[in-house]
Amino acid sequence: MSAGATRADVLKAASLKPAGWGQTRRQDAWWVEPAIPFVVFTAFIVYATYRAFVGGHYAVGNYLSPFFSPELWGTSKHAFFGPPPSWLPAWLPYTPAILILPFPGGFRLTCYYYRGAYYKSHWADPPSCAVGEPRHEYRGENALPLIIMNIHRYFLYAALVFLIFLAHDAWKSMWFAGADGVEHFGIGVGSILLTANVFMLAGYTFGCHSLRHLTAGLFDVFSTRPVRKKAYECVSWCNKHHMRWAWCSLFGVAGCDIYVNLLSRGVITDLRIF
Ligand code: FES
Repeated sequence: MSAGATRADVLKAASLKPAGWGQTRRQDAWWVEPAIPFVVFTAFIVYATYRAFVGGHYAVGNYLSPFFSPELWGTSKHAFFGPPPSWLPAWLPYTPAILILPFPGGFRLTCYYYRGAYYKSHWADPPSCAVGEPRHEYRGENALPLIIMNIHRYFLYAALVFLIFLAHDAWKSMWFAGADGVEHFGIGVGSILLTANVFMLAGYTFGCHSLRHLTAGLFDVFSTRPVRKKAYECVSWCNKHHMRWAWCSLFGVAGCDIYVNLLSRGVITDLRIF
């Protein structure tokens, strides 16, 4: 319901059975709420896919775009194993992102919050409260294909590992090559962006529902496990704002990639704060 709708409005609207897809007796702009994730999430997926397949301009100096981190094989100085190996098939449009993006991408696609958002916005299932949907039966996530969503907890393990790489990138972004050939500590706008990106991704990952279950949610009583209880409380705190972390981190990761891309192309210059 829109922000101005009262509880009575919601109950009244929910009691009316809509007949067909998109039909409703609601008077408010109910379509705005699903329209926003539809536009933003679709734009992000298109942009990330384009970057993963086209590549290029993903690193400059000590900055590495988070879309391409960790860079296993690649052409920048950040590559762990050097240039792309010769055994890769020539027909494969290789970029460092192709190998790694399925993990953070899968983590987001199977996230409990995003599922709730894009089931509504992209599948109209239902489009909104008391608005008619295209299907007449609820199949849930207990059977194929949506039972696959339960893979989320495994993507969580990968996301936790990715955080370590991204934190390392943020640290490296504060070491600039000097004229003497030695790296010196400094802070540029890029360092701030890459560090903020890790912070937002950490807030998103540490608020994961699966992590909440893993820390202590699986116990009936956790007062006898003080460490697990503390971890559970921390995860619960992040979890309370999971939607906000989800969107901030989405903009953060795309924003960092755009910034590094523009820097690498020479469209903008990095401002060194010190
Ligand atoms: S539930 Fe959203 S990241 Fe796990």
